[in-house]
Amino acid sequence: MAKARTVYICQNCGAESSKWLGKCISCNEWNTFVEEVVKKEPASRGASVSSVISSRPITLDQITHTKGERIDSTYEEFNRVLGGGLVQGSLILIGGEPGIGKSTLALQAALSVKNFKTLYASGEESLQQIKLRADRLNLKSEFCFFINETSLESIINECELSKPDILIIDSIQTISSDVIESSVGSVSQVRECASVLLRYAKKTQTTVVLIGHINKEGNLAGPKTLEHIVDVVLQFEGDNNHSYRMLRSLKNRFGSTYEIGIFEMQSTGLVQVTNPSDILISPNDEKLSGISIGVTMDGARPFLIEVQALVSTAAYGTPQRSATGFDTRRLNMLLAVLEKRAGFKLISKDVFLNITGGIRIDDPAIDLAVVTAILSSNFDRYINHQYCVCGEVGLSGEIRPVSRIEQRIREAEKLGFKTIFISKSGLKNFHPDRYQIEVFPVGKIEHIVKAIFH
Ligand code: TYD
Ligand code: MG
Repeated sequence: MAKARTVYICQNCGAESSKWLGKCISCNEWNTFVEEVVKKEPASRGASVSSVISSRPITLDQITHTKGERIDSTYEEFNRVLGGGLVQGSLILIGGEPGIGKSTLALQAALSVKNFKTLYASGEESLQQIKLRADRLNLKSEFCFFINETSLESIINECELSKPDILIIDSIQTISSDVIESSVGSVSQVRECASVLLRYAKKTQTTVVLIGHINKEGNLAGPKTLEHIVDVVLQFEGDNNHSYRMLRSLKNRFGSTYEIGIFEMQSTGLVQVTNPSDILISPNDEKLSGISIGVTMDGARPFLIEVQALVSTAAYGTPQRSATGFDTRRLNMLLAVLEKRAGFKLISKDVFLNITGGIRIDDPAIDLAVVTAILSSNFDRYINHQYCVCGEVGLSGEIRPVSRIEQRIREAEKLGFKTIFISKSGLKNFHPDRYQIEVFPVGKIEHIVKAIFH
């Protein structure tokens, strides 16, 4: 009999050690090592040798195209993040915090896909709970089958019998394989289950969707290693105080990772937000200071977003700087630029910044909106609500050009803005007369201040 070997595995990053460690040397987390039994299966070793022998090297000509067809999830936002739909034979991981809507998204897609057989294996919820949710979503499908199962082997057996085109596992942390003795949800279980499902997906050309939880750091729980196994990693995120949810692609072997899908969680499930600018800009009829509209991109799609700032005199010695949806370090940098290069005295002021809609923006093109919102609040002068701004702010206070400026201008024009302020550099082959919107090139922060707050 094979001797059971135990190793200690970090539940955060999957690092292995032969003895227990208080702190993981790989991810620096404390108290994450758990003893897991790794059983070597002599039979599987034999099988792997035979599979090596049976696969001979071949040339490109000899490789036949797999169907590689994409299944339309019927949700445009979901399809776009996937790079055009669910690729057959791919392994897709959807991660997110509990309650964000992963199961809802998977169920909505499963019940809407037509002409493809779907098996939804739930280890988390009973069939009655799924039925209640489907009733709430008001969706029905004769192509979708449900099973309440936590054993990997039983799920695979069922798949071999019913041969679904799409298999959904909700969630990967609740299923376990008999081959591994470690507890459900441990790193070795999750890894083993994912690799068995990967083999199954490739062998049968089934699309396998795994739902996974993320840990407190926001990484997909335990299995950093999972991210290497799967073809596509999608992260579903949002904030509990807002109903907007964003589906972001972190890895995609079949498409771009710049795309974001935006949904709104309503009482009848997730509804796609096809025009994000509509929800991200509040109708600003009142002349409020501290609000500026910037143009940002999600992948290939431009949209306008409202940046709000509040500048007030610091009550205590050290002023507070806080940002929601924006990098605080970048905010500090922009404040330093305003201080040093543009002569605005913000040193004894508290600065709070908020990107509306609970959205996180990393696009540097939003810098100019941040800076103008801060100045607007500082001067207590409102910015004309027909103005929008788009540009990166450099360390010497210069306004730098950003990518895909033409697309951004078009979007602002489409939404009825009258003037857009952009960087004056990099405008060689640029024809402002092509647009109905007034394009106002600016070189430095002082210029834009003069133009906006004259
Ligand atoms: P769920 O899909 O169960 O989240 P996850 O699988 O990521 O843990 O989503 C649950 C949340 O969504 C829950 O707080 C209730 C809410 N919800 C709605 O607001 N409307 C709906 O139609 C549904 C199905 C859920
Ligand atoms: Mg769930």
